[in-house]
Amino acid sequence: MHSPSCFHKVFCKKEQLLEEKQVSKLSRKIPTKAERYFATGLSMITSQSQKGPNIMTAEWVIQVSYNPIIIAVFIHKESETFKNIQKTKEFGINVASQGQTSEVSVAGGYSRTEVDKIKIKNIFKIIKPRKIKTPLIGGCIINAECKLIKKEKIGDHFMLVGKVLDIKYDDSKSPLIYHRGRYFGLDSTVEPDRKEVNVSKEMLNFFKNMANGKFVLKCVGVLVKSKNKILVIRWSESIETIPFSIPPAGISQRDYLIKYLNQSKLDFQVDVEPIMKRIILKNGKDIQRINFVLYKGKIKKSTYRILWKSYNEDNIISVLV
Ligand SMILES: Cc1cc2nc3c(=O)[nH]c(=O)nc-3n(C[C@H](O)[C@H](O)[C@H](O)COP(=O)(O)O)c2cc1C
Repeated sequence: MHSPSCFHKVFCKKEQLLEEKQVSKLSRKIPTKAERYFATGLSMITSQSQKGPNIMTAEWVIQVSYNPIIIAVFIHKESETFKNIQKTKEFGINVASQGQTSEVSVAGGYSRTEVDKIKIKNIFKIIKPRKIKTPLIGGCIINAECKLIKKEKIGDHFMLVGKVLDIKYDDSKSPLIYHRGRYFGLDSTVEPDRKEVNVSKEMLNFFKNMANGKFVLKCVGVLVKSKNKILVIRWSESIETIPFSIPPAGISQRDYLIKYLNQSKLDFQVDVEPIMKRIILKNGKDIQRINFVLYKGKIKKSTYRILWKSYNEDNIISVLV
């Protein structure tokens, strides 16, 4: 027979085990150090069981294919959501918008084993799905209906890969960002670090024509310096630049430059180490972004179209050298 104290010990141990199990259910591996420094979005994953729909928060959600649209979510196996998706082979991805901090806190702070989250008053707005049986959540920036196509254990989580059967987005919303355990909004944009260069209308149009509407014009060019001068070629009465060309995507920029120089009967020896210059040409409000991949070069033979220019004679050249 158990003495009362022995019974108490057994009871306490049982209770402790139960508590530990529940903690692991809820918290998965609690982030501690480096992982907290990622910035992620937050999604609410909806799933369906015989008891009704469920919702959990997941930060590890990412689109992995454009066509077809495929999204992977990484979920710990103790969650009710994981069990539901295993059974039904479908789930909803509801990417949280900036106003949905209560929704993600509740969906991520409790398990369905503790409370029927979706039924809590005044938190979640349920919307009807079109292609799956699992409901979706209103007020999100993206709602996607997914069919499970792959499941794989990766470390201490499972990757659940969903083919998107239906997806919609709300242009008027902005996403909720998660970083170091806190919520953020996209309140400011960061301007890319490009050197601004004021140029004449002719020069801007010269590059704009080449860009033909491209956001960034990618050029490859050669820098040949001699004393404080740089070698340029003349394109027209008013346009002189370093020798450069616009390589097609996917091929070696240096090889293309060498071919271009050879074709233009410009005989150079070209370095192997690339230099990157990212600039933005401006004339009033009109702009063109340009990336120059540059190689230092030496001239082997003098040819008819080349000229030498001082660095400070030309705005573009002064930032390229
Ligand atoms: C901000 C936040 C992000 C989370 N991200 C994930 C995640 O990416 N993957 C995961 O398995 N659990 C994640 N969780 C934990 C689950 O949301 C939590 O375990 C939830 O209680 C599971 O609910 P369920 O048991 O009802 O499915 C996150 C929680 C929070 C608060």
